[in-house]
Amino acid sequence: MRGFKDMLPGMAVYVQYLTDIQFVPYYSPPFDYFEYVDSSDVRWDLPIISNAFAESIGPIVDIACGWGRVSLHLISRGHDVVAVDQSAVAIDRLAKLAGNVATHVGGLAPVTSDALHFFRGRRDEFGGAVIGDISINAFNDERVLRDLLASVYTALNPGARFVLSVLKSRRLQQLIELDGKPFRVHFSFEDGRSSEMITALLFSEATGELTQNCYIPSGEAVSKPIFSTIREKMWDASEVQTILSQTGFESESSIVIKIPKGGLEGAEVEVLVLRTRS
Ligand SMILES: C[S@@+](CC[C@H](N)C(=O)[O-])C[C@H]1O[C@@H](n2cnc3c(N)ncnc32)[C@H](O)[C@@H]1O
Repeated sequence: MRGFKDMLPGMAVYVQYLTDIQFVPYYSPPFDYFEYVDSSDVRWDLPIISNAFAESIGPIVDIACGWGRVSLHLISRGHDVVAVDQSAVAIDRLAKLAGNVATHVGGLAPVTSDALHFFRGRRDEFGGAVIGDISINAFNDERVLRDLLASVYTALNPGARFVLSVLKSRRLQQLIELDGKPFRVHFSFEDGRSSEMITALLFSEATGELTQNCYIPSGEAVSKPIFSTIREKMWDASEVQTILSQTGFESESSIVIKIPKGGLEGAEVEVLVLRTRS
């Protein structure tokens, strides 16, 4: 059990049944629902994304789309969107939500796939690409990120735009202060069952590595305690800009926005608008 406790600094006190605990990937039930509720009112990047694609021709690929926050916004504005995520649960939710979008909208092709795998061998196929809400942090290995960005470049038409957001700097007091200290959040599922989630973050400012350990004790909503770990890397804008320009992307504009609410409230994010060479 030593390894397990190491994963949970300051959190072991909350864990009830160390021997009877279910481990699940983060973007699967029940954590996927928490993620959906938690991000359903995130809108700060949407106007910049739709402005960037106002004149784009050809389908836009939404990379690591989650439940489709960005995809739904784009199809409601008439774009054709290919929405890619490795979580089948997220893609299912998106397909259902897209059924509720008003008529006279663009088409949606939801795809369950690892993003790197999806782009392999594709050339001049898309009119644009987007990674919303600093989801670039899901790609925590620099080699994988470089590989992904190179494949995205090749898959885009000449002159197509690529929009992504990244933290201006990961030196964030919010993350530094939360490092190792568990916090509890209460939320309710769609059917009204209430639950709590205890989260402990481990954050290294030096490397940007962020590990999020999440625990839902047994209660009204779950019969058995459930645990999940998610590992990300908080990239700095300057690191990502270097990789993007080495990949061949030309920078068109960059807009700095302060995240209006949530765990990273007040953090500065750069929304980068780039182009492939014409
Ligand atoms: C924060 S959520 C997505 C938020 C979404 N981009 C938005 O703007 O609302 C991060 C997503 O990245 C997905 N993801 C992580 N690694 C991935 C990979 N290698 N390929 C595809 N999707 C991935 C996860 O399944 C998850 O749905």
